[in-house]
Amino acid sequence: MARVPLQHLTGRAAFRHLELSVGPGVFVPRPETEQIAGWVLSRLGPDPVVVDLGTGSGAIALAVVQEHPGARVTAVEKDADAIAWTRLNADARAAAGDTPVTVLAGDMTDPQLLTELDGTVDVVVSNPPYVPDDARLPREVADHDPPLALWGGPDGLDVVRGLLRTAHRLLRPGGWLAVEHADVQGTSLPALVRAHGGFTDVADHPDLAGRPRYTTAQSQKRDT
Ligand SMILES: C[S@@+](CC[C@H](N)C(=O)[O-])C[C@H]1O[C@@H](n2cnc3c(N)ncnc32)[C@H](O)[C@@H]1O
Repeated sequence: MARVPLQHLTGRAAFRHLELSVGPGVFVPRPETEQIAGWVLSRLGPDPVVVDLGTGSGAIALAVVQEHPGARVTAVEKDADAIAWTRLNADARAAAGDTPVTVLAGDMTDPQLLTELDGTVDVVVSNPPYVPDDARLPREVADHDPPLALWGGPDGLDVVRGLLRTAHRLLRPGGWLAVEHADVQGTSLPALVRAHGGFTDVADHPDLAGRPRYTTAQSQKRDT
């Protein structure tokens, strides 16, 4: 009745085959994000290097190592409150026997972020903040998901612009990018990726409700 999200009342959120700890300070993972995690898993060969930008509870990063134990995954988070939940979940999954994930405090738009991985990453995935500033959100979201997890500037794509530069720098030629977006960004986000340059095979994908939900692209191979 108070419109507190159920996951905050129980302290648990289901995500693919995981049950994660959540609460005040961290974004509650959503069912639509399970699909982008599945798409990432479908791109992985043996011993892949994966980076999850804006990891929150760790949902995508931890699902990848649970379902692809050979993956070496780095999970990046800027929000000090949220990263405490990332670490709690990452420690719990490692204690349960999953491949450990590297959790890094950092800004996905920082040109110095993870420079040691430049040109080596197989998949960069992100569910970034993408809500346009003038959007109206239900109270369960507006009052309980952290502002840094939600708001993305006038068109919702402010953080995405920086994330594209980081992703392009990190990806190996032929590596893949996957970015979740709002249902109103099914044209604008692919256009932004094309305008950035350096990516081919830009495609957009619907969620289970048929709404545009995530964009994927391949980092240009050297011989193309
Ligand atoms: C929509 S939430 C997604 C969380 C998680 N990946 C998921 O799918 O449930 C976006 C996350 O990105 C983080 N974030 C926002 N801006 C960031 C930035 N510049 N660098 C790193 N993380 C950022 C937020 O704190 C939040 O945890």
